[in-house]
Amino acid sequence: MRIDIITVLPELIKSPFEASILKRATEKGLVEVHFHNLRDYATNKYRQIDDYQFGGGAGMVMMIEPIDKCISKLKAERDYDEIIYLTPDGETLNQGIANALSLKKNLMMLCGHYKGVDQRVRDQFITKEISIGDYVLSGGELGAAVLSDAIIRLLPGVLNDETSALTDSFQDDLLAPPVYTRPADYKGLKVPEILLSGHTQKIEQWREQQAHERTADRRPDLLSSDSDEN
Ligand code: ADE
Repeated sequence: MRIDIITVLPELIKSPFEASILKRATEKGLVEVHFHNLRDYATNKYRQIDDYQFGGGAGMVMMIEPIDKCISKLKAERDYDEIIYLTPDGETLNQGIANALSLKKNLMMLCGHYKGVDQRVRDQFITKEISIGDYVLSGGELGAAVLSDAIIRLLPGVLNDETSALTDSFQDDLLAPPVYTRPADYKGLKVPEILLSGHTQKIEQWREQQAHERTADRRPDLLSSDSDEN
């Protein structure tokens, strides 16, 4: 998979890709992430990428021309499955969306700033708009990092057995059950007996029951909804 991220702040988004699982995925050649500084596509000598909005009002708007130049250059080099704009008014990210995007080959992500991008960019180039939650960030970079992480960890070969994505919360619309490790008794705080029994089938049943209880308690909406995306 290849991900191209268009941003005015490359230094804000690079570091998550230089650590841990994302770094390993890159080193293994399972994903390539490229960053494009939008200012490199600015058309005037001040490297300006935003301007006042027509009609008046506070806040700058990202101009169409630098974005057009950057996106068009990338599109001339390869086909993109999706060109994603990170924005608080997009579709809210969930596991189903991450699963679907993890099957794609080339993704482009555009990070917004200020009041956002000129609407013509969205109409003309963007194929998908994603929000990472109902709150406003100072730019789309952290959203792009979150989205990329959620996608990349699903790529075959990125996680090993111990970190398998199959038992994650949300993969079956259930939250994950509680987990424990040694010691079995810490200052009187005991691990549930069943987990020490060695009885694989009963342990599995217990985990399933715990997952249901936890979901019913914390996220009853997951049990009632038919929330599979794709
Ligand atoms: N940019 C600003 N806020 C955002 C959010 N909640 N999700 C994605 N991109 C954003």
